[in-house]
Amino acid sequence: MSTLTANHIGLTFPTQIHPILEDIHLEIASGSLTTVLGESGCGKTTLLNILAGFQSPTTGQILLDHQPLHGPDASRAVVFQEHALFPWLNVQDNVAFSLEIQKIPSKVVEEKVAHILKIVGLDHVAQSNIWELSGGMKQRVGIARALISPAAFMLLDEPFAALDAFTRENMQQLVLDLWVKQKRSFFLITHDIEEALLLSETLIIMQARPGRITKRLTLDFSHRYRDGENIRSIKSDPQFIELREALFSELSHDMELKI
Ligand SMILES: Nc1ncnc2c1ncn2[C@@H]1O[C@H](COP(=O)(O)OP(=O)(O)OP(=O)(O)O)[C@@H](O)[C@H]1O
Ligand SMILES: [Mg+2]
Repeated sequence: MSTLTANHIGLTFPTQIHPILEDIHLEIASGSLTTVLGESGCGKTTLLNILAGFQSPTTGQILLDHQPLHGPDASRAVVFQEHALFPWLNVQDNVAFSLEIQKIPSKVVEEKVAHILKIVGLDHVAQSNIWELSGGMKQRVGIARALISPAAFMLLDEPFAALDAFTRENMQQLVLDLWVKQKRSFFLITHDIEEALLLSETLIIMQARPGRITKRLTLDFSHRYRDGENIRSIKSDPQFIELREALFSELSHDMELKI
C-alpha cells in the first residue's frame, strides 16, 4: 500500500507577491477517496497540477512513499475538466494512444483497450469518432484513457461539471464502482456538494488568498455504497441531507460573488 503526500506545499508564482497555496499537507493512501471543495480561484487546479507533477511547488515536496517525485510519471493519471481528447482519432485510438507511443505490441494494446472500454460502458462505440459522442461519453473516454495506465492515483479536475444531473450521477456511480473493484485511489475536485459528500472518505475544504485547507471531514457514505446501498437512498438519507445543507450554508458565504 503506497501513499502520495503533498508535504507542506506552498506556491508563489514568480510574477506575484502573494502566495497561491500555503502549507498544504495532504496524505492520499492508495485505494482511498479524497475530494476537494472550495471557492473558485482558491488553488484547487494548481494543487492538482502539483500533485500530478505538472507544476513545481515553491516550498514543500510531493512524495511517493517518502521519496520525492519530480515531474509526472506512471504513478498518477489525470482526467481534465475539458475533454482533452484527440478529435482526429476514434474512441479506441484515443484510449490506446499512451500505450502505442510506448511501442507495446498491438495485440496487447487491442485487448487492453477492449477491456477498459467494456468497464466504462463504451465497447459499443469503440470505432466512433469523438464528435459523434455525447458529453458523458466523452468524459468516459477521458476516464478510460486514465484507467489504461497502471497509475494507482487518479487525479480528476471537475470531471463532470458540464454534465446533466442524470449523466453526472451515472458517472459518480462509475467512479465508486472503479474505486470498489479496481482499488485505485481517486483525488477529485468538484463544485458539487452532493458529489463531494458521496465520493469521499476524506473531504477537504479549501479557502482562498492564500489557498489553504481549512477543514477535513471523514465520511462513510462511499462505504455504504460499497456495502450495497444505492446512490439515491444514500443521497436522500436525513444525515446526508443535513450535512449537505450545513456545508451549503458554510460555503455559500465563501462563494458569494466578490465585486
Ligand atoms: N500560471 C499562473 N500564473 C499566475 N497565476 C496563476 C497561474 N495559474 C493559476 N494562477 C492563479 O492562481 C489562483 C488559483 O487558480 P486555480 O486555477 O488553481 O483555482 P481553482 O481553485 O482551480 O479555481 P476554479 O474553481 O475556478 O477552477 C488564481 O488566482 C489564478 O489566477
Ligand atoms: Mg480549477
